[in-house]
Amino acid sequence: MILAIETSCDDTCAAVLDGDRLLSSVVSSQTRFHARYGGVVPEVASRHHLELINPVVAEALSRADARTRDLSRIAVTTSPGLIGALLVGVATAKSIAWASRAALVPVSHLEGHIAANYLPPEPVEPPFICLIASGGHTSIVHVRQRGAFELLGQTLDDAAGEALDKGGRLLGLDYPGGAELDVLAAGGDPAITRFPVGLDRPDSLDFSFSGVKTALYYFLRDLEPEQVQRHRADIAAAYQAAVVTALVRKVLAAARLWNCRQICLAGGVSANSELRRRLQAECGREALKLRVPPPELCTDNAAMIASAARFLPAIPFPEYLSLGARASGGRAA
Ligand code: KG4
Ligand code: ZN
Repeated sequence: MILAIETSCDDTCAAVLDGDRLLSSVVSSQTRFHARYGGVVPEVASRHHLELINPVVAEALSRADARTRDLSRIAVTTSPGLIGALLVGVATAKSIAWASRAALVPVSHLEGHIAANYLPPEPVEPPFICLIASGGHTSIVHVRQRGAFELLGQTLDDAAGEALDKGGRLLGLDYPGGAELDVLAAGGDPAITRFPVGLDRPDSLDFSFSGVKTALYYFLRDLEPEQVQRHRADIAAAYQAAVVTALVRKVLAAARLWNCRQICLAGGVSANSELRRRLQAECGREALKLRVPPPELCTDNAAMIASAARFLPAIPFPEYLSLGARASGGRAA
């Protein structure tokens, strides 16, 4: 039985996994505390994690009807993320592992998002290309076997979700605006203008979303307020189309380059209806299989961290006591 903890950004999460059975998954979202600032404030996130982590872990154990002595592994996200937020999870995981003499598994957040695909209801078998698109990351990885991945491309500046959130903000939506922008764009005509698709070249699987954001800023600046109001949905649709086009083109290019027949999605942006519609259509045309985990496994959660921990090496008691966290990619030493 694995207890997993995830505190890399603004969700305090714990889950219990027994083999293939997810016994509990608790997510306490801090979004409302950060909304007034228009984004996640790292220090506020760390303080809320400190207050929430013990009740969230207790709730996950209680829902699973598990005690700490039942646990063979404690898994925890050690990178990448907000350093103060990560450290709350790592310190908690070490304490529980120490008290129960369990082994500890450090997990990278990206490995977690990928491993959401290995959970029921439809566990995916590698090989596959995975697009991880959230408020904090945009990466394309090639997965040949569970527990390993190769990074093919990533954003050089903003994440896709961050670009959608910031675009939503320019259009007057509350943080995080991605989901609302999706709804607004559904009623609009993207033909109103064409926003730039970053790094749209065949030799790169990397992304850049800072240009499209700036283009939206200038486009709105040059319109009369009345025109902005009248065309809000159209502008949202054109903006979303530029972000989605980048994601769709690059993930399909990766599948072709690596001759891979299966594409998986991960991260909060996989909820986007335009992304799903376009990828579904393109995958149908190219006879590729598209797999999307249920929404609660796409956004940040600890079930995915527990899932990844099944395929990663564990550090035995008590060698993990010096374990740290890292804000950038890779697993912590
Ligand atoms: O994976 P996630 O919950 O947390 C991070 O690690 O960031 O992703 C949150 C991101 C936010 O940027 C949010 O606006 C975006 O996912 N998002 C969406 C939709 N639902 C959530 N973006 C576009 N369309 C949606 N329907
Ligand atoms: Zn995430």
